[in-house]
Amino acid sequence: MSGNNLICVLLLVLLMPALHACGGKNMPAGNGSKPEVAVVNDEPDPLKGLKLYLGYCFVCHGQTGDGNGPYASMLSETPSDFTDSTYFGTKTDEELYDFISKGGIAHGKSMHMKPFGFQMTPDEIQSTIAYIRVLNRHERINRDKQSDLSGQEIYRNSCVMCHGEKGSGEGRLSKMLGLKVRPMNAEQLSEFSGAKLYNIVQDGMPSDTTGSGRFMPAWGNSLSEKEIIDVISYINTF
Ligand code: HEC
Ligand code: HEC
Repeated sequence: MSGNNLICVLLLVLLMPALHACGGKNMPAGNGSKPEVAVVNDEPDPLKGLKLYLGYCFVCHGQTGDGNGPYASMLSETPSDFTDSTYFGTKTDEELYDFISKGGIAHGKSMHMKPFGFQMTPDEIQSTIAYIRVLNRHERINRDKQSDLSGQEIYRNSCVMCHGEKGSGEGRLSKMLGLKVRPMNAEQLSEFSGAKLYNIVQDGMPSDTTGSGRFMPAWGNSLSEKEIIDVISYINTF
């Protein structure tokens, strides 16, 4: 509690009428039913988890979670198959959290499974686990839920790890895995029509693309039409 708030609380106790002088916004409402200190994290949200999963995990674990991502063939160990409900039924959320944040080596497993605790917040890891549970249960996500994320926020959740700040191509994941991602800027993007850009984000790069395009996930099952349009407007500002 900051010094100012402490003084306000003291005033509240001693001198009710002075309440309005403390800028009532941060004060408990009348009977104090809303504790000031409560910082409640969002519930782990599987749809948010999917958006993060496609950004951070898809390259190895695959678009459908079966362990067959475009990067998997370059690895000496096979990424886990999240559709294996028998195996994942034996794992608690706490165990998955520990594994994802500390990585394979810390658990005597593959070095290719990196410690994501350096790249993702606890809340983001929890949402990703919520999505892994959806894959364990062989369910699908309804992406039509209203989202109030701006194009910039979508970029931060789902694109920056590969495309980098302002489309530099030097995201943390692409650097870590040595993925080549060319810089994106308005001039380069103007090679594509608006409809073509929409299709790339929705479905990934066309399957006959040579080069690193296969590392571009398809977002059609996680981003709504509006979100795709908003994130394209955002990348067009680079
Ligand atoms: C560079 C490839 C790569 C990326 C990216 C990757 N993984 Fe993995 N992951 C692996 C490999 C390989 C294994 C298998 C480890 C083993 O069995 O030795 C694995 C295993 C796992 C497991 C199984 C743990 C267990 O108890 O057996 C979980 C859970 C997991 N990864 C979650 C994630 C999540 C979540 C992300 C994204 C945030 C992610 N992985 C990104 C390669 C990757
Ligand atoms: C796992 C890595 C990865 C993520 C995450 C990712 N992309 Fe890509 N994306 C790529 C790669 C690789 C290419 C091909 C670039 C190249 O050929 O050098 C690409 C290509 C593109 C292109 C075509 C333009 C070009 O430079 O080829 C667009 C547009 C694009 N991505 C938008 C997005 C958006 C929007 C998001 C987030 C919603 C996103 N990408 C997330 C890897 C990724």
